[in-house]
Amino acid sequence: MLFRIVCVAFFIQLCLAAPNSRYDDEDSRENSVNEGVDQPHQFDLLIFTQRWPITACHEWRETGKGHICGLPTPATVWTIHGIWPTKRNTIGPAFCNKSAIFDLSQLTTIEQQLEDHWVNVEKNKPDYSLWEHEWLKHGTCAAEVIDQLNTESKYFSQGLAWLEQHSVNAAFASSGDIRPGYNYSLTTLNKALFDYYGKNVAIECFYDHKTHQQLLNEVRICFDKQLQSADCDGIVGMERIAIPNARVGTVISNCNAANPIFYPDTVPKDMAPKVIDIKAKYETISTVSDEQDKQQETYEFVEVIVV
Ligand SMILES: *[C@@H]1O[C@H](CO)[C@@H](O)[C@H](O)[C@H]1NC(C)=O
Ligand SMILES: *[C@@H]1O[C@H](CO)[C@@H](O)[C@H](O)[C@H]1NC(C)=O
Repeated sequence: MLFRIVCVAFFIQLCLAAPNSRYDDEDSRENSVNEGVDQPHQFDLLIFTQRWPITACHEWRETGKGHICGLPTPATVWTIHGIWPTKRNTIGPAFCNKSAIFDLSQLTTIEQQLEDHWVNVEKNKPDYSLWEHEWLKHGTCAAEVIDQLNTESKYFSQGLAWLEQHSVNAAFASSGDIRPGYNYSLTTLNKALFDYYGKNVAIECFYDHKTHQQLLNEVRICFDKQLQSADCDGIVGMERIAIPNARVGTVISNCNAANPIFYPDTVPKDMAPKVIDIKAKYETISTVSDEQDKQQETYEFVEVIVV
């Protein structure tokens, strides 16, 4: 049986809802919404977020009809989500430069590395769409304040450098022998990460409503404005959970500490995409999505034929 999901002008609002909702979702999880036009945009910390691409891929598939995900090769390496300037105990800032545009040509020399390590698993969109989003939303705020991050090239190169120096793969291998394919307690994961980084980190789970499992999704480590390691204490959006009998007393997380956390080694097979033919056509439009923000957003249209 074939049915088609086709975006046509008449249903433009419906079509826009899917890609847009993903970023709204990300916005709420990052907890950094637009603060408005007040200058300067202050922040205390840079959150360096690494994601587990297998979970990110699974999440993307699960959260919308026609969502197509793709994994890096190899799939079992932690990849970069972003560097997010963050003010303690509050939100944002985000989208600090309304006149900024994303210029892919500034990344030519590191583009291959970005494709390998700063991976867009959302294959309904072009590879660079994640970089564009991260730069406009977060990079522009870092750029205002931190000289070492004040161009696209510097911002993305810093992410690559931090991944090399602070990868979660290394943390898990060195201090916990934590491997994909198994369940771990939040305490175990947090202890491994704390022992390796020497700082409080944040651990993010994706809750799969079909299997009722929580999957390890992201690890966030923090830096101060001098780019030195810092505790993530004070970041908003995840709770500080008390863990009795743990060497490290608390952990910043949205995971349920009472249940195991699955660290998946493959995207579940029954979720394999049923897409047999993809005709993706990208168009970009600019809209004023919010009268107050005069915020430019881009949307991609995608036509997908599924079995
Ligand atoms: C904002 O972005 C524009 C375009 O890239 C740039 O010319 C300008 O210097 C930026 N403003 C600030 C405050 O960084
Ligand atoms: C992980 O824990 C869940 C929930 O208890 C369980 O259903 C699953 O079989 C476990 N997986 C492994 C690999 O142990």
